[in-house]
Amino acid sequence: MYITIEGIDTAGKSTQISALSSYYPDAIITKEPGATAIGKEIREIVLSAKTQSKKAEFLLFLADRAEHIEEVIQPNLHKTIISDRSVVSGVAYALIQGEISETAILHLNRFATNGIYPEKVFLLKLTKEELEFRLSQKKLDGIELRGSEYLLNIQEALIKASHLLNIELIEIDATQDRETITKQILNNMKDRND
Ligand code: TMP
Repeated sequence: MYITIEGIDTAGKSTQISALSSYYPDAIITKEPGATAIGKEIREIVLSAKTQSKKAEFLLFLADRAEHIEEVIQPNLHKTIISDRSVVSGVAYALIQGEISETAILHLNRFATNGIYPEKVFLLKLTKEELEFRLSQKKLDGIELRGSEYLLNIQEALIKASHLLNIELIEIDATQDRETITKQILNNMKDRND
């Protein structure tokens, strides 16, 4: 079973992924971008914000994704794979960027992944109020400085991307306490032994 945890900054993805890893000790815990040797280098380039071309940035994320699918996902499809972001983020961020057509975004992502998509998307969803509260409590990085409107647009785009990719979407209220969120994810994961 291959699942992805998606959500905007401060939604609590990392916390949930580390909680899930204790319930699935044999699972492959992975992420995009940056899970492979090449991916780590791509991640540094792409998050350094030095790319001038939005297309170049999109293609770097795609290169990371192609490597991730071939090295990590495809060989482990018989195991439980829990990924921090996936093609769903890839499509969502590109949709918001607005530089590339929806058709091309979908087509190129299918090309990069060989059509290997997660079975389920768990979206940790924040309200505007909670997002603004959480942002006010921390030192903001580059993406977070774009503000709550931008992040809420991304959140909507994550939902749209799941539909466009035809992946089952499970929306989880990320304002709940950690344990409740973990339980809701566990309840929606198919078979703990696969
Ligand atoms: P993170 O690993 O801390 O979540 O950071 C990854 C950043 O890259 C995050 O801001 C989302 C962004 N991103 C894209 O813009 N496109 C993509 O395809 C992916 C996977 C992530």
